[in-house]
Amino acid sequence: MDSRLAEKIQQLKKDKNAVILAHYYVDGKVQAIADFVGDSYYLAKVAKKVEQQTIVFCGVSFMGESAKILNPEKQVLLPDLTADCEMAHMVKEGKIEQMRAQYKDLAVVCYINSTAELKTKSDVCVTSSNAVKIVKALPNKNIFFIPDENLGRFVKEQVPEKNVILNDGFCPKHKVITAKQVLDAKNAHPNALVLTHPECVKEVLDISDYIGSTSGIIDYAKQSDKNEFIICTEVGVLYQLQNDNPNKKFYFVDPCPVCSDMKKITLEKIVNVLETGENSVEIDDLVRELALKPLDKMLELAK
Ligand code: 13P
Ligand code: SF4
Repeated sequence: MDSRLAEKIQQLKKDKNAVILAHYYVDGKVQAIADFVGDSYYLAKVAKKVEQQTIVFCGVSFMGESAKILNPEKQVLLPDLTADCEMAHMVKEGKIEQMRAQYKDLAVVCYINSTAELKTKSDVCVTSSNAVKIVKALPNKNIFFIPDENLGRFVKEQVPEKNVILNDGFCPKHKVITAKQVLDAKNAHPNALVLTHPECVKEVLDISDYIGSTSGIIDYAKQSDKNEFIICTEVGVLYQLQNDNPNKKFYFVDPCPVCSDMKKITLEKIVNVLETGENSVEIDDLVRELALKPLDKMLELAK
């Protein structure tokens, strides 16, 4: 069944001049048929430069929106329009304007896990793999970091020379991982290193051996001479971790973090959008123009 769908997708890609991008959190079966798989930063760079006329974005809606903003001539299709990131909406109405009124030199630094609307009000976007570098490079002393409090706090600790003001957004999948769960996993696997995404809470980051984006975690595990790892992020990364390291062991905290929105992407839905052209991302011209600025600035500063 899956191999039949995979073959169908390969044929449709040729017929429709399409390319498939997938985030590390989508199901392994989807990662297996994608042309490009990566973290949010890598996928944003790919989305800007692909030549095919259609991009099928296997991820949540802010990812498809960013691809469309960066490459508006292309048709961007989302296999499931309801696949959304809860955190992307977590900035209270009027909060950015209030902060701008309070701090004259404020830079609004917007995690890419945000709506296009929030990006229009921001100075620069960041992802988990480039946030520290970009905040360091900004001339502004005062930084309002939206929407994620945990990534913001991680950046604040890495860049103590800035006044990083935190917002109260969070990823519901990472926030619920507790230090106790990590310590339980460490007790069960005392030789394992703890590799953690910065969307986790401070108590978890404080007992981690490595903190980084999904790509960062995958690269670290590959290069490490250790054989066992406790992974504090969404379970989708396991597919690449196992492919890269068939002889290493990977454990997750209990309960295992699953982003149900990322898991909405299926092979059947990819076939459907390729066949029908449904679920095309459409963005208002003004929103696109304003949201492009912080995304382009990210790509420039992260180089
Ligand atoms: P990355 O930037 O590591 O790809 O993470 C995206 C994400 O959604 C984390 O929850
Ligand atoms: Fe959003 Fe969290 Fe899912 Fe990442 S894991 S897409 S931050 S809800």
